[in-house]
Parts: sequence; C-alpha cells; structure tokens
Amino acid sequence: MTTADERPRSVLELVAMKAAGRRIVMLTCYDALFARLLSDGGADLLLVGDSVNQVLAGRDSTLSATLDQMIYHASSVRRGTDALVIVDLPFLTYQVSVEEAIRNAGRVMQETSADGVKLEGGRAMADTVRALVDRGIPVMGHLGLTPQSVHALGGYRVQGRDAQTAERLLQDAKLLEDAGAFSIVLELVPRALAQQVTAALRVPTIGIGAGEHCDGQVLVLHDMLGLNEGFTPKFLKRYGELATATREAVAAYAREVRSGEYPGPEHGFE
Ligand code: KIV
Repeated sequence: MTTADERPRSVLELVAMKAAGRRIVMLTCYDALFARLLSDGGADLLLVGDSVNQVLAGRDSTLSATLDQMIYHASSVRRGTDALVIVDLPFLTYQVSVEEAIRNAGRVMQETSADGVKLEGGRAMADTVRALVDRGIPVMGHLGLTPQSVHALGGYRVQGRDAQTAERLLQDAKLLEDAGAFSIVLELVPRALAQQVTAALRVPTIGIGAGEHCDGQVLVLHDMLGLNEGFTPKFLKRYGELATATREAVAAYAREVRSGEYPGPEHGFE
C-alpha cells in the first residue's frame, strides 16, 4: 500500500512515477469523508469528476454539471485530504474560448486549492491546454470516450477500434503532451491502442476501460464499491458490495426501531 510519505506531492512527482515504473492509483471522489478514506486506503490522486452529476445527482449524462457544482465538491474533497486533487472542468466552461477556459480553470484553482484540472478532447483543445499550462495551471487530458461528447459519439462505446480513429487518437495524445498536459486519461479504448499510446508518451496514461498497459488506473468510486448496482460494464471490477451492506444495515435498524430494541438504555442520557 502507498503510504502518505510515498504519495506524489505534485504533478511533477506524478510524471516521475512513470519513469520509475510505479503504477498510478486514481479514484473519483466528491466529498471530504470519502477523500479521507481514499487517501488512507492508498490512492495517489483523487479526481473530482463531473460524473458526480450522474453518480450523486442522478442525471443521465455529465453535461449539466456546472462550475459552481464542481467547485463545491472539489472544496469538500480538498478539506478531506492532502493527496493530489484534480478537478474536471465541466461542459462549456473551456470550449468557448481560451480566455473563458483560463478564467474558469483559474477559479477552480483559486477557490478549491486543487492541484490541477482535467478537460476532454484532443487537437481542438491543444491551444487551450497550452494556455492553461503557460499560466501555471496543470492540465490532465482525457481521450477516447469523452463523456461530454456522448451525443456526438452516439453513446458510451469503445473508441479507436479502426486504424484511422486509432491513429487519430495517438496523434491527439502526442499533441496534448506537446501542449503540456501532465497526464492523459484514456477511457474505453482497446488494450493494444492504450499500450501504443502509453509507449509513445513521456507523461503517464491513466486508463478506465483501457486495459492493463496504462501507467495507472481510475475507476468511479461508487461503481467499484458496489454502490451503483445497475452499472456493470465489462471493465469494472467491484472491490466491495456496499449497496448490499447499506440495505442490510438499514433493514436491521428498521427492525430494531420497530421492535423497540433500539435505542437501548445505554444509548440514552441520564
Ligand atoms: O468524470 C469522471 O468520473 C471521469 C472519469 C471517468 C475518468 O472523467
């Protein structure tokens, strides 16, 4: 397990993990309580993903996440951990103009004390990535299935399956690296393509549904804890069954309240 001492303290140390052959452990996180537990458990960095909109707010896509919402969750996460925290820039906060991207990413950094931001897209975002990095804002890229483009992509499906789209994704990854991205998330891409991209870059790739060759892995916390029972994609491995545990705990509580077993005298005040 990674101890607090071994955890990367900056995005530069994160990049150095690739050269040292150390795999990177990332999880999504939206609140202070889980932030504490995830750092205790050994996560290297926490991603305040705009998936919060699906996971906690019950929406069917990430598109309606707002900057204020992300800032609220990122501030909560920051209060729970001293691990690296990266925050998703939500849809339309960075695509309209480079100026807006700088202002919005700047707000995230200023108001949450996060360590960097993540944005989706390849060549179309290279200038934006460069502008943010030049202004001191570390940027993580995101290629493959980019959920903010779900409507254009025709659904949540594996990307880069044919030679042409695979080559384009590889070029996009190099362009993001050249623009200064410190790491790139690869979501839902074939294992061989993720391996090729990972080998071609100096900066680490972090995969979700992208196979075993990436430099690190990320999962949505509530999925891997078994809290989001209906979501069972092939790439997901559950490391807990917390939905079942929660239901059982609530049922036990309900039973005891109804029978008068809880609260007992030991739970009361004299
Ligand atoms: O929003 C999110 O949770 C993400 C991960 C799936 C990488 O972007």
